[in-house]
Amino acid sequence: MLTTVKTEWKNQGFIDEPFEGNNEALKAAIRKLCDEKKAIILAHYYTVGEIQEVADFIGDSLALARKAANTDAKIIVMCGVHFMAETCKLLSPEKMVLCPDLNAGCSLADSCKAEDLKKFKDEHPGYQVVSYVNTTAAVKALTDVVVTSGNAKKVVDQLPEDANIIFGPDYNLGNYINEVTGRKMLLWNGGCHVHERFSPAAIMKLKAEYPKAVVMAHLECKGPVLAMADVKGSTADMLKYAQSHGGQQFIVATEAGILHELQRTCPDCEFIPVPPEITESGLECSCNECQYMKMNTLLKIYNTLKYEWPTVDVDPAIAQDAVKPIQRMLELS
Ligand code: 13P
Ligand code: SF4
Repeated sequence: MLTTVKTEWKNQGFIDEPFEGNNEALKAAIRKLCDEKKAIILAHYYTVGEIQEVADFIGDSLALARKAANTDAKIIVMCGVHFMAETCKLLSPEKMVLCPDLNAGCSLADSCKAEDLKKFKDEHPGYQVVSYVNTTAAVKALTDVVVTSGNAKKVVDQLPEDANIIFGPDYNLGNYINEVTGRKMLLWNGGCHVHERFSPAAIMKLKAEYPKAVVMAHLECKGPVLAMADVKGSTADMLKYAQSHGGQQFIVATEAGILHELQRTCPDCEFIPVPPEITESGLECSCNECQYMKMNTLLKIYNTLKYEWPTVDVDPAIAQDAVKPIQRMLELS
């Protein structure tokens, strides 16, 4: 007879079955599974260093989308966050897409619900929708063209000059794109909880300590932070800049995972991460890390490959509309 029903239990979203062996053995076992199953591991720069080391390809959102569209692997393991895995599935629907931990969401994607965007669109007939790639497939299905931090200016510049545009969900990115393109896009009021934490005061303090350092900031940072930055862009833009300006010091305002690839590819440079500060709104967090990106672990990658679970699938009715604005982005950038 059943005596207890654990009603609060829900799908855990990952498998953390223990592995017998050290990290090097685990990495070797992951590579072996990739070979046996014709799988490819894609990882974002914000994942932990050991994942970047075991991956077949690391990149920013744009490069990861391009890679997902072109790979001939049978299985894609997307080590990033859920919308990145969805983008892989939309671009390669015939492939199995695995996500090591389904709980790896994104505060920015969460800041725009499809039903809210639909309502806003209905209130603004005739407007085109430009959405940041950090959105759900359902939001992309309501979108005319997707952008990333790496191509937003280039894509928006190609839209008709008299177009009325809704841009979402990242307010800071949209505000910056309005500034550099002269557009007057209507901005969704969404944000990333990691990038919103960087404050101008923290950068001022570091600039006083490192007066010669170049300040780099991700376009998801607030306007006053971007105004202090010498280099503004996507994670790949920051890497590219540092790689072509050897021997310098850089103050880095983005998620700390990027330091692994910065340091690896620019050993003669010094990178100083901007410490986040507790915001006026009282958000208490003592790290400049995205906890969603950090949900990816070597053990979860091993288990997702071993058991081919959890997969990321998109409702075909949504997928047929959601893929179009991503393909349009790839054509325009
Ligand atoms: P990038 O496209 O610059 O890698 O940014 C992705 C992201 O999630 C930033 O928070
Ligand atoms: Fe989303 Fe922010 Fe994490 Fe990027 S850093 S994945 S925008 S929550």
